[in-house]
Amino acid sequence: MNYKIAVIKGDGIGPEIVDEATKVLDVIGEKYGHTFTYTNVLMGGCAIDATGVPLPDETVKICKESDSVLLGAVGGPKWDTLPGHLRPEKGLLGIRSALGLYANLRPAVLYAPLKDACMLKPETVKGGLDILIVRELTGGIYFGERGRRQGKNGEEAYDTECYSVPEIERIARVAFETARKRKKKLASVDKANVLESSRLWREVIHRMAKEYPDVECRDVLVDNAAMQLVRDPAQFDVIVTSNMFGDILSDEASMITGSIGMLPSASLGEGKLGLYEPTHGSAPDIAGQGKANPIATIISAGMMLRYAFDLQAEADAIDTAVLAVLEKGLRTPDIAGVGGQKTLTTTEMGDAIRAELRA
Ligand code: NAI
Ligand code: MG
Repeated sequence: MNYKIAVIKGDGIGPEIVDEATKVLDVIGEKYGHTFTYTNVLMGGCAIDATGVPLPDETVKICKESDSVLLGAVGGPKWDTLPGHLRPEKGLLGIRSALGLYANLRPAVLYAPLKDACMLKPETVKGGLDILIVRELTGGIYFGERGRRQGKNGEEAYDTECYSVPEIERIARVAFETARKRKKKLASVDKANVLESSRLWREVIHRMAKEYPDVECRDVLVDNAAMQLVRDPAQFDVIVTSNMFGDILSDEASMITGSIGMLPSASLGEGKLGLYEPTHGSAPDIAGQGKANPIATIISAGMMLRYAFDLQAEADAIDTAVLAVLEKGLRTPDIAGVGGQKTLTTTEMGDAIRAELRA
């Protein structure tokens, strides 16, 4: 099969890490008989330099014509003084809305060889951890009615949490489908003891759970979920939650893993066209020095295989290869302190992962 991928290398370390990920995809292609074709498009600071805007129309057009989008990161001090509408981040928000991406998938994986980087007690995480948070991205309190007004005690401000049935259904569907491809365990996080929007959320989740009898689904109140994530995170496989709860819980969950250079993400919308990118930014402090960890981007490409192209064996092969290099003590500088035996450059790390894939 031939898969068309729009590639946004972006700024800072973006080009370095994305190159390692596409070279990994090429090895997967050779090994499993697929062809990946890449179209490089501009977004962020490099797009501002070349075209004057952070998200050229051409970029949106090519992304929409592709099967998937792979992104490095955008932004950097060079563009920090530009006015808001011309900032690199506008490119990111723009592409998410142009592609209608309403589901954000953020795995929090603690690889056993990096367990010393985890802030939790060793016995809590001894088997490693693998949690996936599915966060609703385009609704809820961040997009609800807001304002300021005069109340009986003077000025007051309000934000509203609002979810419609179709909004809950579509994020729930992503979560159930994703759980199906993993351990078939789903925790839906809400605050249904207090919030009406959470009560509707829960009703919809329960209704949809009937369509997925193979997925074990339970409700967890958000305060308890925050507690359980540090007390016994291994109980979770997939967590689905609203925009705000997901924002907070995914940052909390990310702290149980080693480095920011290890965390991938996927943003999905209608259809199969999603955006796959590392969670970190463009790391201008280390750009161009061969110090960037390409693993977050390589695993993001693996998520693309899994969720966009339904290539499960190929995605598993990437995860296995990453684990194998870590087990050998191979490290980029950001994770060198956790059981590292040999420190590699960005390209050497990519090469090591590709060598595992070929072995
Ligand atoms: P950052 O994630 O770029 O860097 C934070 C720290 O982590 C830095 O010390 C950096 O060297 C390190 N780091 C990040 N990725 C790494 C990797 N792969 N390997 C090794 N070390 C890594 O966040 P920061 O410094 O707040 O932002 C820098 C720029 O990136 C800003 O312009 C910001 O707006 C942009 N940004 C872009 C994002 C995106 O494109 N999705 C997301 C977050 C920030
Ligand atoms: Mg956050």
